[in-house]
Amino acid sequence: MDESRLSSTTEPTAPVPDGGGPAQVRDALATCRACSLWEHASTVVPGRGPVPARAMVVGEQPLRTENRLGRPFTGRAGMLLRRALADAGLDPDGVWFTNVVKHSRFVDDDPEQRHEKPSRAQAAACRPWLERELQLVRPKVVVLLGRVPAQAVLGKGFPARRQRGAQVELPPSWGLDPAPTTVVTVRPTSVHRSRQREKDYAELVRDLRLARDLTLY
Ligand code: URA
Repeated sequence: MDESRLSSTTEPTAPVPDGGGPAQVRDALATCRACSLWEHASTVVPGRGPVPARAMVVGEQPLRTENRLGRPFTGRAGMLLRRALADAGLDPDGVWFTNVVKHSRFVDDDPEQRHEKPSRAQAAACRPWLERELQLVRPKVVVLLGRVPAQAVLGKGFPARRQRGAQVELPPSWGLDPAPTTVVTVRPTSVHRSRQREKDYAELVRDLRLARDLTLY
C-alpha cells in the first residue's frame, strides 16, 4: 500500500504540546486547525482556571460572549452557572472551566450567530485538548453540562437526561489515575431560558452540591 498517499489525505490533528503548562497549551490551541470550526469563530476559547483545581466544569461550546471575549462561561448562562456553583458551596474562582470544542459552532451565515451542536467528529478532533487539560488540572470531580459533554466524555450512547445527577467514574481511556468522578447535569443555557427558572436553578444547585461533596475527600 502507498503510505505517502494515505498520509497526504489524513485530517490535521490537534497540535497539543508535549510539555508545558496552561500558557503553552493556550498558545498551541490558537494554531489548531484539527476541524473547520476555527474558520467561522472570532477567537479560540481555551479552558481557564487554577492549576491544579479540585473541580472542572465541561460545557458544550463557547457561546456569543465567550467567542467575543475568548473566555469560557462569561455570558449570561455562564454567570448563572457561576452563581449556582457559589450557591452549591463551590467557589467559582477555584474551578477550571472549559468546553468540549474550543471554537463556537455558529449556524452557517446566520447574522444572529445562533449555535448548533458540535458534531461528533468536531468533538473528537478537540478531544486531545480536553485530555491535556485533565492531565494538567487533575480534578477530583468533573461536572458535565448536558448531553454533548456527557457523551464526549463518557461515551456516545450515554443517556445524559436519565443519568442526571449520577456519579460516574471517568473512563480509563482518558488516562487519569486516580480517575476523577463525573457528575452529569444540565446546560446552564437551558436554565437561563426556562419558564420555570427558579425550579430549574434549584435543581442545578442540587446537582452541583453533589459535585461539591466529591471535592471534599
Ligand atoms: N458558556 C460556555 O462557555 N459554554 C457553555 O456550554 C455555555 C456557556
